[in-house]
Amino acid sequence: MKRPNGPVVAIDGTAGTGKSSVGRAAAQQLGYGFLSTGGLYRALAYKVFAGKVDPSDEEAVLAVAKSIRFSFQRQPDATLKMFVDGQYLGDKLTLDEVAQTASKVSTHARSRAVLTEKMRQAGQDGGIILEGRDIGTVVFPDAEVKIFLTAAPEVRAERRVKQLQELGVKADFDKILASIKERDLRDSTRAASPLKPAADAVQIDTSRMNIQQVIDAVVKEINKYAA
Ligand code: DC
Repeated sequence: MKRPNGPVVAIDGTAGTGKSSVGRAAAQQLGYGFLSTGGLYRALAYKVFAGKVDPSDEEAVLAVAKSIRFSFQRQPDATLKMFVDGQYLGDKLTLDEVAQTASKVSTHARSRAVLTEKMRQAGQDGGIILEGRDIGTVVFPDAEVKIFLTAAPEVRAERRVKQLQELGVKADFDKILASIKERDLRDSTRAASPLKPAADAVQIDTSRMNIQQVIDAVVKEINKYAA
């Protein structure tokens, strides 16, 4: 099936592999849209938290998921800016507490189905890179290009420390490493859509690559499809 605006590109992998930066840069280079799908889980987590809902209460979390109105607005840098019930949540979604709650609420299969449908609506016309955990396996199993990024946990923790330091935030390597490992374990062992590469995904280990090298490798894969 040809999509009107070009291929759907799935970039999956664990946290801290550079999926977001790489996806955004590749999308800009190619004139594609870019959606970081973790944002939808983070938005759900934020709403769950704000509503004082227990993240382990599957029914209550599902009710919140169903109640959220998502809308997306394409920005000049290719990113799809996400509005949650008409509101841009910005930095509120980057807190570690929100990330941990996102990882918890994302274990619920029926809430996942609700968010998956939103991702499909945003991406179905193609010409878009979606970054997440299960894009190539569940959201778009028919994606034209599938990439799975990996990196050693220590390398990812080091990258996160640097990122935080650049933002002027004090960072504790051991704590960050533990948080990364905890999230990896939960994301890859959950019953509903666990994090794993699609059988037909191209795997790239980014441990010894800089960001530009990863961007180049991803653009090369996408161009293979376009050629
Ligand atoms: O990529 P991120 O850190 O913004 O993702 C936050 C959480 O959302 C992550 O712990 C797992 C979950 N997630 C998911 O289950 N499926 C996706 N497609 C994207 C994110």
